[in-house]
Amino acid sequence: MPSTFTSVPGKSILFGEHAVVYGYPAIAIPLDSIAFKIKLIPQPTEKNSKIINLELGENLIYEDLDQEHSYRTAIAVILQELKIIKLPPMEIRLSSTIPIASGLGSSAAFAVCLVKSLSAFFGFRLTNKKVNEISFQIEIFQHGTPSGIDNTVIAFNKPVFFRKGYPPEFLKIGAPMNLVIADTGVRSMTKETVAQVRKFKESDPSVVDGIIHKIGDIVERAKNEIENGNSNAVGSLMTENHNLLAKLGVSCRELDHLVAVSLKEGALGAKLCGSGRGGNIVALCNEELAGSLRTALLNNGSTNCFISKIKETKGEV
Ligand code: PMV
Repeated sequence: MPSTFTSVPGKSILFGEHAVVYGYPAIAIPLDSIAFKIKLIPQPTEKNSKIINLELGENLIYEDLDQEHSYRTAIAVILQELKIIKLPPMEIRLSSTIPIASGLGSSAAFAVCLVKSLSAFFGFRLTNKKVNEISFQIEIFQHGTPSGIDNTVIAFNKPVFFRKGYPPEFLKIGAPMNLVIADTGVRSMTKETVAQVRKFKESDPSVVDGIIHKIGDIVERAKNEIENGNSNAVGSLMTENHNLLAKLGVSCRELDHLVAVSLKEGALGAKLCGSGRGGNIVALCNEELAGSLRTALLNNGSTNCFISKIKETKGEV
């Protein structure tokens, strides 16, 4: 079997995080300037497989991993789906420019990349739909109750209007729009923020239901505005969505600060992206502003910042 190399993008949720867990729609886009990469190299003369992740300082023997280890469970899900009894000895080299626990899809990107690379290694040509289904099973092991939006946008590598339990709808982009994505440097676990919202919903259902219903409404309006290429309207809906997420309790001082800096510098809108309580914000702006907005965010506490676009991507649906 020859070596394989696979790369998948990160993602940003533009609208609807958290509400999507409760059946409302959400909108997400792939981010191609960050990526998760896996190289698989057969090692026919070795007895065991190695998993190497230089960024995390990991050099692990696959067969020695605990049964519950995330690498082990992910590989087990894939082997079972492909009906392969045993992993042949290989070196699995992981590398990523997607920051961990910061709302840009690192865990879903790992799942999708591993499904794509192992299936290609064994000579399977899976559809994106199948890659997505297997990746979702892996995400369930990592997160418990994921909505599935992260694995969907990354597996298809397309802007998506997503509703849990329905086939994804791929968005037409009326006009490309410019984004600046800025990291607070604060890390937070999706599982914990989702659990925090669930607890809030149990203790105060009418307040939380009201907020997530409003978020759902924003997502529907945002879909039309994205398809019509109306960046001013998309921007204001992003800020409205941020304010509602703050009311849900998933923002934090650092996120609010970067959103405020973006708006002060002239962004059309800004919001936290992903599960919140840290991680990244996404700001929408005119093309001419992107460079100076990036500089302003870096000068005002962001630990990392990059420019991206809402745009259509080619490829299989
Ligand atoms: O922070 P991330 O990239 O894991 O995004 C989570 C999005 C949520 O809506 C909060 C959870 C989900 O499963 O959709």
